[in-house]
Amino acid sequence: MIERKDPITSPQEIETDVKQLEVTLRPKALTEYVGQEDIKRNLKIAMKAAQKRKEPIEHILLYGPPGLGKTTLANIIAHEMGVNIKTTSGPAIEKQGDLASILSNLEEGDILFIDEIHRLKTQVEEILYSAMEDFALDLIIGKGPATRSMRINLPKFTLIGATTKAGLLSSPLRDRFGHIFKLDFYEEKEMESILNRSAQILDVKIEKGAIAEIARCSRRTPRIANRLLKRVRDFAAVEGMEIVNMKLTKETLGLIGVDHVGLDKTDRKILVTIIEKFNGGPVGLNAIAAAASEEIETIEDIYEPFLMQLGFLDRTSRGRVVTANGYSHLKIAFTEKSDARLF
Ligand SMILES: Nc1ncnc2c1ncn2[C@@H]1O[C@H](COP(=O)(O)OP(=O)(O)OP(=O)(O)O)[C@@H](O)[C@H]1O
Ligand SMILES: [Mg+2]
Repeated sequence: MIERKDPITSPQEIETDVKQLEVTLRPKALTEYVGQEDIKRNLKIAMKAAQKRKEPIEHILLYGPPGLGKTTLANIIAHEMGVNIKTTSGPAIEKQGDLASILSNLEEGDILFIDEIHRLKTQVEEILYSAMEDFALDLIIGKGPATRSMRINLPKFTLIGATTKAGLLSSPLRDRFGHIFKLDFYEEKEMESILNRSAQILDVKIEKGAIAEIARCSRRTPRIANRLLKRVRDFAAVEGMEIVNMKLTKETLGLIGVDHVGLDKTDRKILVTIIEKFNGGPVGLNAIAAAASEEIETIEDIYEPFLMQLGFLDRTSRGRVVTANGYSHLKIAFTEKSDARLF
């Protein structure tokens, strides 16, 4: 399980009001979905082609760090195709029979969305192979000499899988997806337009500069941007301010420990730990996690991708290394590492 500590900057879903916020702010149509232009272009073609053939769209795998819009995109595809979407997740499907029952209850053209698909049990995953490829369920019935296999036809459906860890997917599963899309961190301009849209929906009056400031500090992640916007809004309400300005935004970010590039306390702790305890690296993830008292998964899924994106952390064959930029951000003197320390 991923540890969920910081409700502000952790991209994971935590509180129910955050979930509600997400539902309210979640774009429903592709035109409202900001950024990820390559994916949108490919999707439009794929959807049009499928509609022309009067067939469901091919199976789609969406992968990328949390909070970038995988679940949103799956729902948009259903909306654009005018079909039903059934949602489940890898860890929620315990037995083969559970998945068999979900699959046999689908209707022609439906979308089955499996979140965290990398966490499917192996036996459950095996059921998916023939379901995805032949739209059939191959079931083994009975035991011992009476064992026989049975094939049940399924309606043609589309599987959309989402994962933060495409690397953990087995190749037979990965190979059965017709489209594999990687979601990238958003550009700052895109973050601004997401925030403007959200501010409008939430009826928050906010200055342009303040939007830019939140955009810059949101780890290029829409979920975090929306969450920070909500924090700023709450703070403004408490202060009795009608229009959110830069000063209030900076104060709010300072109060919750988010710095000017969007790093939170845990990001900084990870970098400082590598510098202070491991001389800046290279050091393995296990050692960092133990020394910083964080879960390995949390570091790998949530913190590391963004630290690498900022160029503060490098992944080498010998482990993680804090870069010169990482040192400079923390205002710690960077000493060029000599090979001497390897001996
Ligand atoms: N491209 C986008 N345009 C506008 N808003 C977006 C976009 N992508 C995501 N969002 C906003 O960010 C929120 C989080 O997105 P979503 O839940 O789809 O992320 P996710 O990739 O499924 O995350 P996880 O891996 O944690 O499941 C959405 O509710 C939506 O408000
Ligand atoms: Mg999701």
